[in-house]
Amino acid sequence: MRRIYMDANATTPLLPEVLEAMQPFLINSFGNASSVHQHGQQARAAIEHAREQAAALLHCQAAEIVFTSGGTESDNTAIFGILHPGDHLITSSIEHDAVLHAARKAQERGIDVTFLAVSSSGMVDPFDVSSALKPNTKLISVMMANNETGVIQPVEQIGRIAAEAEIVFHTDAVQAAGKIPIDVSAIGCHLLSLSGHKLHAPQGTGLLYVHRGTRFEPLLFGGAHERQRRAGTENVAGIVGLGKAAEIALAGLTDGTDERIGLMRGRLEQGLLAKIHDCGVNGAHRSPPQGAGVVAWGDAGQPRVPNTTNLYFDRLEGEALLIALDLKGLAVSGGSACSSGSTEPSHVLKAMGLPLSRARASLRFSLSRLNTEEEIDAALELVPTAVARLRELSPACKKHLAEAVAK
Ligand SMILES: Cc1ncc(COP(=O)(O)O)c(C=O)c1O
Repeated sequence: MRRIYMDANATTPLLPEVLEAMQPFLINSFGNASSVHQHGQQARAAIEHAREQAAALLHCQAAEIVFTSGGTESDNTAIFGILHPGDHLITSSIEHDAVLHAARKAQERGIDVTFLAVSSSGMVDPFDVSSALKPNTKLISVMMANNETGVIQPVEQIGRIAAEAEIVFHTDAVQAAGKIPIDVSAIGCHLLSLSGHKLHAPQGTGLLYVHRGTRFEPLLFGGAHERQRRAGTENVAGIVGLGKAAEIALAGLTDGTDERIGLMRGRLEQGLLAKIHDCGVNGAHRSPPQGAGVVAWGDAGQPRVPNTTNLYFDRLEGEALLIALDLKGLAVSGGSACSSGSTEPSHVLKAMGLPLSRARASLRFSLSRLNTEEEIDAALELVPTAVARLRELSPACKKHLAEAVAK
């Protein structure tokens, strides 16, 4: 069976160019970048080249890049590196667990945390950020794009609020990097997290952008690696892969790749909305017009990264649909966490005020440059068929039909 992967927000495969760039550093050029001899120098040069490539994606200085093991480590470094007991943190209720759970742990350690609510369209209101400020606020952490809905947050406005209040601003850009342009000066963030495996670099790679002069306590202590900001022998091949992936992602923002992904997302979303009753978009008031391109802005809906659509299919269980689609070869995501046998609806959709039944009936489709128009065509056949079949079987649907007949 042909398999179709539409779960790029979970992870993406390596691009062949990325693997090719990494390969020498897995076998022949295996040096430790801290070694003085030529093996070490080769590894060091490769890391510094990757740092330049990553900096270009974020429009920052190479020296402001600290390589980490991924988004989770970067987020944790931002939170635990800045805050001390008695400090106040402002974050949002729709952050990824890498921020949310770190913030809860910080609470246990005596840090005061405000979790901001979001609008029904999944956006943090900058006004709420201003209102939450306290004399002891030391950090604001609001993500750039949400992993489940793709909704882009007003980070530039939040950056201005942070600058005026002279507070450190961290943004988790894991789901934004490579999908929309990022300019750290325009955002005004001091810290920014990025993960390699969301943009076709290996899993276990990532970085933290640290604005020059921003003081923070490292998470890991040991050698003087990464200018004493992150101890541990560098993952040279992984870093080289991340650099190459960043270079490719940057090109993709202007060479038509990103736009093509946006057009495919638009066609998938519009097609499913047209074919399926009682189905809608989570995170957009209205659906973007066909071919909305890179971002569905303003009137057309909330701004979203171009690759993501989160849809609800009322009167069925999202998990059941996910499994039915997987059996037919289409991989998507449910956005809910299965723990001890019970399926918890997504905290993001709950924070947006979706009724639990609708949150449970939602699926995320997230595309990458590797998806094709043929795959969109296939999904436009598979999803409506699976939804119709499951609804026929669902008790909620039988009840709905019985009520309709009785009226
Ligand atoms: C928004 C966001 N932040 C952080 C992470 C964690 O990144 P990593 O998997 O590199 O630890 C993810 C991963 O899904 C994410 O989507």
